[in-house]
Amino acid sequence: MKGKVLGTRVSIRAAPRPHDHVSGGDLSATTQPTRRREELDLPASFKWLVQSPLRSGLVRFLHSRTNEAFGVAALMQRFGRLQQDVENCLRELVAFGVARRAPGTRSRYEATRPGDVAVCRLLDRFLAQQEAVSSEDRSPAVQRFREMIGTDEKMVIVFEWIRTAAKSDIAVLMLGPTGSGKEVVARMIHELSRRGAGRFQAVNCAALPDTLFESELFGYEKGAFTGAHERKPGRIELAHNGTLFLDEIGDLSIMAQAKLLRVLEDKKVERLGGRHSIEVNFRLISATNRPLDQWVQDGRFREDLYYRVNAFSIRLPSLRERASDIPLLAHRLLVRYCDANGLAADSKSIDQGALDLLGTYHWPGNIRELESTISRAAVSAPGNVIRAEDVQFLHPVEPVERSRTQLSSLREAERVHIQLVLEEVAWNKKQAAKILEISRGTLYRKIGEYHMEPHQPEPTAAAQPSDR
Ligand SMILES: Nc1ncnc2c1ncn2[C@@H]1O[C@H](COP(=O)(O)OP(=O)(O)O)[C@@H](O)[C@H]1O
Ligand SMILES: [Mg+2]
Repeated sequence: MKGKVLGTRVSIRAAPRPHDHVSGGDLSATTQPTRRREELDLPASFKWLVQSPLRSGLVRFLHSRTNEAFGVAALMQRFGRLQQDVENCLRELVAFGVARRAPGTRSRYEATRPGDVAVCRLLDRFLAQQEAVSSEDRSPAVQRFREMIGTDEKMVIVFEWIRTAAKSDIAVLMLGPTGSGKEVVARMIHELSRRGAGRFQAVNCAALPDTLFESELFGYEKGAFTGAHERKPGRIELAHNGTLFLDEIGDLSIMAQAKLLRVLEDKKVERLGGRHSIEVNFRLISATNRPLDQWVQDGRFREDLYYRVNAFSIRLPSLRERASDIPLLAHRLLVRYCDANGLAADSKSIDQGALDLLGTYHWPGNIRELESTISRAAVSAPGNVIRAEDVQFLHPVEPVERSRTQLSSLREAERVHIQLVLEEVAWNKKQAAKILEISRGTLYRKIGEYHMEPHQPEPTAAAQPSDR
């Protein structure tokens, strides 16, 4: 029933376009175009205001720092959200009187007390409820998930999105770097949703060549092709009444994209060699670490499919962005290691020196890499306590060390990196743009902006790194 409310709203929402993409947090900001605040009574409209995770996050954030004003860029960074989302939400908060533009500047925002006494009361009650709101659901599943997710402010917001997504039945796209927990979150959404009792079918699209795509997803009848000795239901069919999780969806070929789109539109599948189509009712969650919106513009990913899979998106921060969670995760992953090796949960520990060291690393493989680093350290530690000297990184000291000796501006680093890539691919701009994950147009613009040319003489400027 909870899902129905959200589902109804979503149906009136126009599909997002890649450039004005709206992600999870302000879903309700974009889905209530017809209901004006004036038409609602005050408590209801306040409830609507704080129903969006991003708006409620912004209200709490600004009101916990009443002496400071924040620019849109800082808030985008803090909440890991796109500019348009943040601006839309801020506009709503300002209209409601709970935030305002800081005097003297054009684009900084700060908390303010609403002029209306009744709104003040609602605001105070909301702010006081902060703890209660996030612990309102005390079911073991929610507790377990909250435990997993961490305490960094960014993840607390993500958790609110997860709950919002779980209440509805719309397609969710998980974004974020590899190892950041996209699959973990997809399972959480499934388990918290009304489909939780159904199956969760995970398919790794990157590992699925076109030749296997149909038999894996649609299934086959006995004798459909050589080697089809038995009838086999496809993953989509198995996900009936449950959730289909398409991992690495960006890696689907154009052919596979077309076939998937058809199933999403028809809600029917036909097994290979079968005569009947089977009605399927599943919830779709996809994940990718690719820049899908860019790929839509480049024609590598179908635009219509993009809209289908991306009704609601949740972006997971990298481990570096949620560094305050590293000690918590390290302890938890160590307990997991002990568990997997038949040891008592508290038989191993990590000392402060090791925790400090873990906090200095850049974690390109995110939580997955933290997990393997902890396991390695637990194995190599002679005793039960993991110390700094037991910790070995997969990509040791790289950017941290170098940046200490060669501090350059972001702009300079970008210029040097683009030049490096261009030279590596002999100035093939298509290839370079692909490696850089930017459009060719952007690449041309940057080449012009930085006055780059092939075969430049050895750089002489002081800011050039000497170890290229
Ligand atoms: N919040 C978390 N707490 C503990 N372990 C986590 C958490 N998020 C992810 N992991 C672990 O990190 C690894 C990578 O997670 P996964 O969801 O597969 O990442 P992704 O799909 O983004 O590559 C898994 O072993 C998972 O159990
Ligand atoms: Mg994954």
